[in-house]
Amino acid sequence: MDRRQFVIGSLGLLAPRASRAASARIEILPDEPIGVISPDIYGHFTEHLGGCIYGGIWVGENSPVPNVGGIRKALLDQLKRLKPPVVRWPGGCFADSYNWRDGVGPRAQRPRRTNFWGNTPYLAQAPDGPVKYDPNEFGANEFVRFCRLAGAEPYLAANLRSLPAYDFYEWIEYCNSPAGSTSLADLRATTGDREPLRVRFWGVGNESWGCGGNFTGDEYAVEFRRFVEWVPRFDVPLAFIASGPNGPDYAWTRSFFSKLVEKGKNALRNVYGAALHYYCGTSGKGDAIDFTLDDWYALLAKANRMEDLIRNHWQIMGEIDTERRVKLIVDEWGAWHQTAGIAPGYLFGYFPTLRDALVSAITLDTFNRHADKIAMANAAQLVNNIHASFLAAGEKFTVTPIFHVFEMYAAHQGGTSLPTEISARAVEGLPGLAGSSSLHGKRLVLTIANPDAGNAQETEIIARSSRLSPVRAMVLASQDIHAHNTFEHPNALEPAERPLSGGSGASFTYQFAPASVTRLEFDLT
Ligand code: AHR
Repeated sequence: MDRRQFVIGSLGLLAPRASRAASARIEILPDEPIGVISPDIYGHFTEHLGGCIYGGIWVGENSPVPNVGGIRKALLDQLKRLKPPVVRWPGGCFADSYNWRDGVGPRAQRPRRTNFWGNTPYLAQAPDGPVKYDPNEFGANEFVRFCRLAGAEPYLAANLRSLPAYDFYEWIEYCNSPAGSTSLADLRATTGDREPLRVRFWGVGNESWGCGGNFTGDEYAVEFRRFVEWVPRFDVPLAFIASGPNGPDYAWTRSFFSKLVEKGKNALRNVYGAALHYYCGTSGKGDAIDFTLDDWYALLAKANRMEDLIRNHWQIMGEIDTERRVKLIVDEWGAWHQTAGIAPGYLFGYFPTLRDALVSAITLDTFNRHADKIAMANAAQLVNNIHASFLAAGEKFTVTPIFHVFEMYAAHQGGTSLPTEISARAVEGLPGLAGSSSLHGKRLVLTIANPDAGNAQETEIIARSSRLSPVRAMVLASQDIHAHNTFEHPNALEPAERPLSGGSGASFTYQFAPASVTRLEFDLT
């Protein structure tokens, strides 16, 4: 793209000089379904890190901040709009230092433990200043309560590096054994939950190639087999999630799966998913808000690498798991910029911009297109941390542009993913438009990101052998690629419904705004 096409307005905003006549085309193939989009692709991740749990989710029952049993009420109210299917906790790297027993029983008696991630901002105002420990006020019962209030399934990540397999066994027993049946069920009752928590999703370690034990793939496979063999099930269809590769570490995937099946392919029955982690990182100075146009394109190009990561890991998995019993999970993803002072102690907390919204759209569209491969994904992280949908400090609260993408894209959950063939002129090495579509009965949902910061894309849309009747268009866009919400201006960037005038019938024409995320809905006949 020619930088001279931009004019710098009086507010320093990038604005298109004129939108070129475009020649993009999207063809959707309703007769070639890819698979059902698991709602769990729209999951979230929470960790005892910075201001995510303490100060973000948990404010405590006696807080002046409106709360439901200690959980921030504004967060619950807004989170429900995203229809969150699943939330992962307590880490991340924290998980492999965490003893679940520290977070049960009466809160006042729970131990304080080191949190190697640093300060606990929730207690930053303590008389003796910021503290570097975890108060354990928020444990498994509080987390599952949070999930239930939000309408999500809990996904617990267990400690594989520093606790024995027996503690994993007992955490499952604590959560899932029937009321009154075991001593751990009685302990659970003293923490407020007589009935079983019925936790289905269990992560067996986290990043076991790094903070989770620094294993090789084949060493970890042996540990994994040991942890998941002969655990109590209590009529819950347990789903074990293995620590997967770090981005393009294909050697990890190959060695883990090869070693896992060394004693027979039956071992694959115990793996619900292999969890890839990919942060597309940052670019330029690493600042969340102060970035150049080159940084914009560089980050979006890195987000787009998710496509190759999924294809390549999936292919390697298929060489060993020939019956395709195991799915891919991406239980940490997002951009990752520098900490930018939301509040003291909020490590990795910053104000996400429109750029991060496009990272979200490009990534979620990629997952939708691979609905046959991806069982779950969890954006890192839900609140105050890295790729956050929410920011909160004291009574201050805002949703971010990432939230808006999740809300727009929730319409894909449970739909049938359809091939969406896009031809559009490339921009700075990126596909000119990126997107996905899904069918829900007769309703077609099409989401498209236009990464071109200076030009709209006039696009012809076709659904093969079908007629399109447009229903509505929602657009998240700004002339300022740095647009973001703050505590003072929580509605600075939000989606708006746009008029539709592209006709109906065999084809429909739509102009995708520069630097935008769009959701179009049609009825298909
Ligand atoms: O999300 C922050 C950290 O990033 C997690 O603790 C870890 O799993 C990853 O490296």
